[in-house]
Amino acid sequence: MSLGDVLDTHRVVVCVGCGGVGKTTTAASLAVHAAMTGKRVLCLTIDPARRLANSLGLDEMKTQEQLVPRRLFEAKGLELEGELSAMMLDTKTTFDDLVRRYASSPEIAGRIIGNKVYEYLSGSLAGTQEYMAMEKLHAVRSDNRYDLIVLDTPPTSNALDFLDAPERMADLVDSPAMRWFVQAFEGAGKFSFNLVGKGAAFLLRGLSRFTGTGFLEVLAEFITDFNDLFGGFRERANEVSQALRSDDVAFVIVTSPNPLAMDEAIFFARRLEEFEMRRNAFVINGMRALYAEPSLQEGELASLVAPHLPDDMDARRTVKRMRRAVDDARTQAIADRIQSDHLRQRVGPDLLFVEVPHFEQDVHDLGALSQVARYLTGAETMPTVIS
Ligand SMILES: Nc1ncnc2c1ncn2[C@@H]1O[C@H](COP(=O)(O)OP(=O)(O)O)[C@@H](O)[C@H]1O
Ligand SMILES: [Mg+2]
Repeated sequence: MSLGDVLDTHRVVVCVGCGGVGKTTTAASLAVHAAMTGKRVLCLTIDPARRLANSLGLDEMKTQEQLVPRRLFEAKGLELEGELSAMMLDTKTTFDDLVRRYASSPEIAGRIIGNKVYEYLSGSLAGTQEYMAMEKLHAVRSDNRYDLIVLDTPPTSNALDFLDAPERMADLVDSPAMRWFVQAFEGAGKFSFNLVGKGAAFLLRGLSRFTGTGFLEVLAEFITDFNDLFGGFRERANEVSQALRSDDVAFVIVTSPNPLAMDEAIFFARRLEEFEMRRNAFVINGMRALYAEPSLQEGELASLVAPHLPDDMDARRTVKRMRRAVDDARTQAIADRIQSDHLRQRVGPDLLFVEVPHFEQDVHDLGALSQVARYLTGAETMPTVIS
């Protein structure tokens, strides 16, 4: 089993992990590889950073599907048998689409979307971005223009947020505070602060910047209209939550060899297991290569190096410094190796482990992504020792 097989046997591949470990790079590389080998691929990202767009050779990441032109692959000498599209998720648009789908009339949908309270909630409610990522994923999953969808997950402070985002969205919709709001308003026919009481005051606190004239009316309108969506939203959130557990969805956990990132990766793997979601592979990205210990004595090295140095450079001192640099690099590589082996021991043998070396240069173009993909899919492996 390799990551190539995972790509072949799943419709959706979700890359997860904490920030900065190479999630976007991994997602993009997998997408590039699958497209090169004949699949029609959509790479879906949430990260607004320009990096992915740049790496794919695009000017910018759009919130609509855009095809990566074939000539960009050709320019790097890469053969593209399939197709690659990329898209950046737009939380607000996804939320709007959802409202349109579940509102009982276009008028109500229009009223909700135009409401200031909605505008605030759709952008800043905790977990909205995560939920919308899962929502969008579910929506494109049945799009038959694609054979494979690769999702690069948000750089959330809590990397786990989006896993149970559908459940939390369903809970929010059903929460006592929301229900209470609705009842308070519906019972009174008119909304007032007296009715809100202390219990729901926390929700209002975030909304306080709208406390100008008409705020209560805006809030009241939103709550009545939003109530219209409750049933549909809850059902949809449950559907999305189920979809994440289906056989055609694979999870790839990305980590760096850094001990803290490793701990998070393991925590992540356990949570996936708890949620009964598939954990298919660990990617340990940015492993430093182990250089062999120099076999020559310092004196011998110095006489080898001396002819190549300018006259005013002392060969012995230079060799000493080079030795120190090699020793440091070896120490780092050995530390990475220990971390990687330790991860396997802690997680057990039933998962796929893939190591990707740390490249000298940033991974910033299609060529580099396809190179990363060679390691991801096992076409190349980290050398044990470089001599
Ligand atoms: N194996 C690697 N070797 C060298 N640079 C890498 C490697 N993987 C990722 N990078 C670089 O590290 C930075 C962070 O990677 P990125 O994929 O954006 O991380 P994340 O999405 O997890 O935050 C990027 O500049 C990327 O080009
Ligand atoms: Mg990223």
